[in-house]
Amino acid sequence: MSSAPLIVLEGIDGAGTSTQTALLAHHLASRGHKVLTTREPSDRRIGQLIRTVLAKDAPPIDRRALALLFAADRLDHVAQEIEPATRAGVIVVSDRYLWSSLVYQSLALARERVEALNRHAPPAALTLLLALPAEQAEGRRQRRGGPEEIFDDLAVQQALADGYERELLLAAQQGQLAFRIDARPPIPEVAAAIARAVD
Ligand code: TYD
Repeated sequence: MSSAPLIVLEGIDGAGTSTQTALLAHHLASRGHKVLTTREPSDRRIGQLIRTVLAKDAPPIDRRALALLFAADRLDHVAQEIEPATRAGVIVVSDRYLWSSLVYQSLALARERVEALNRHAPPAALTLLLALPAEQAEGRRQRRGGPEEIFDDLAVQQALADGYERELLLAAQQGQLAFRIDARPPIPEVAAAIARAVD
């Protein structure tokens, strides 16, 4: 049996990747596919460590060390969860993956260094970018509440939104499958647009 695909949802904080990951999994399951949802930072040991250092009130962490942690979490996540599932014919839908590192860690490191750190991470079969203006995403984060994280600054989120548009262009140039989804409409409309793209 050939491997099932890894499908990834990406976007700035508050763009709706978590909600839409669950809805896409539901859509695929309703079509009779076996589906596994997952996320990065992962729920494994390294991912849990990353979540503790991302809190704004945590002691500061060197940005190169953080980039290595994300890359390490990804390799472990791929080896232990993603590839065993796709090899068994299960479609994996991940809330964030490689583009998150290429966008977020490239704020502090050269993009090619981030790419080099992640060279062992296989590309996703399909990446969906949930595009939302940074101001709107900030409003959603504030309504959602939760602890503040180190990237939660409006100017930073604007730079991240630009970074995601850059990745989309690069993906098109490199022949990778990726779509931009307008994340401004209500949740069911965005879910329908994602389902159309995936189908
Ligand atoms: P996030 O999806 O916001 O987790 P939660 O909803 O549990 O807070 O991810 C945490 C943050 O980590 C988010 O701001 C994006 C950032 N991040 C990176 O900087 N690099 C990465 O490679 C990944 C996967 C996430």
